[in-house]
Amino acid sequence: MWSHKPAKLVFLQLWIARASCFVNIAFTPNQGLQGQTTMSGAPFPNTNWTSDKVVDGNSNQTAAEGSCAIMDFDQNYQSVWLKVQLGRRFNVAYIELYLRNEHLLGRSSGFSIYAFYDDTFDPASLSPNDFAYHHDPLSGCPTPVQNITINRLVRQIVFINNRPDGFQTNCPERNNSRYTSIEICEIKVMGCDTGRYSTGCFGECPSCKNKNCDAFNGSCIDKCPDPNALTEECIVCADGRYISNGYCVKCKGHCRNDEHCNKLTGECDSGCASQWTGSFCDQCIDHFYGRDCRTQC
Ligand SMILES: *[C@@H]1O[C@H](CO)[C@@H](O)[C@H](O)[C@H]1NC(C)=O
Ligand SMILES: *[C@@H]1O[C@H](CO)[C@@H](O)[C@H](O)[C@H]1NC(C)=O
Ligand SMILES: *[C@@H]1O[C@H](CO)[C@@H](O)[C@H](O)[C@H]1NC(C)=O
Ligand SMILES: *[C@@H]1O[C@H](CO)[C@@H](O)[C@H](O)[C@H]1NC(C)=O
Ligand SMILES: *[C@@H]1O[C@H](CO)[C@@H](O)[C@H](O)[C@H]1NC(C)=O
Repeated sequence: MWSHKPAKLVFLQLWIARASCFVNIAFTPNQGLQGQTTMSGAPFPNTNWTSDKVVDGNSNQTAAEGSCAIMDFDQNYQSVWLKVQLGRRFNVAYIELYLRNEHLLGRSSGFSIYAFYDDTFDPASLSPNDFAYHHDPLSGCPTPVQNITINRLVRQIVFINNRPDGFQTNCPERNNSRYTSIEICEIKVMGCDTGRYSTGCFGECPSCKNKNCDAFNGSCIDKCPDPNALTEECIVCADGRYISNGYCVKCKGHCRNDEHCNKLTGECDSGCASQWTGSFCDQCIDHFYGRDCRTQC
């Protein structure tokens, strides 16, 4: 009986590792992961409701807890943003956004999320390439905890909200939907290191260009233009050459039937020509030597 126990234990540990699929890249201090934050305006006066509270590991959604980033709504902002800059570029799967949940969701109505590949962000010129999510202000109030899919290589996540002329929402801020504010308690940025995906981030992207693979299933995202590409840098070798340390070099050996060597390994997949041996078919069989291995010792 006792011999079944260890097997069960191993199974349990595996299950736990799989259950925590992704890592919070913006706040996992024991792995040195900490996002840096900035927001477009000052925190509410005489408080500690600063932008860094969105990456403090406390997702409590009330202001009194002191773990939210909150601006002063009475400043009548028509445009606000808050950004989380990651330590470097990561393969981000999704974010969990925790809004302040004290009947003030109207202030966040109509917000957008952008996810940037590099560390430039200009609120005045946003590209659809970086767009990730928009809350439709006529679809009711935003839900207080949102799960937003990103699934790409990202350096910065930005929450942005605007109140252009004629803005309408059916989640009004009391009687005033003309203004907005930052009212965010946590942004968890869930993902893996660049080049990794899913299940505890143990998955390694196959030879994808730019090491860019789907964060959930590992499929390559940037395809090489030539399907014969051998590496993630999209290197293609001609027949009779193979890849070695990132360069195409001449096949070393003599393959059976004058076949070309394998472009990835340099080996002869269907064996060596007569008189030759070794995995590259570049050595003479026993008792022979010479350029063509035909001279007997
Ligand atoms: C801000 O936080 C500091 C340190 O945690 C504390 O000493 C200070 O009283 C706080 N200020 C306000 C206005 O809550
Ligand atoms: C959130 O913080 C408030 C204020 O500190 C506290 O009263 C409340 O119980 C907390 N909520 C949760 C779910 O922990
Ligand atoms: C968000 O979605 C992921 C999977 O896509 C899931 O693992 C996670 O539990 C979700 N988080 C919340 C808060 O619903
Ligand atoms: C908004 O409501 C407050 C009371 O809740 C009232 O004093 C104020 O006049 C209203 N403002 C507008 C623009 O209707
Ligand atoms: C991985 O997911 C992407 C996006 O959802 C999908 O297009 C692709 O076919 C999936 N690949 C595999 C191998 O399931």
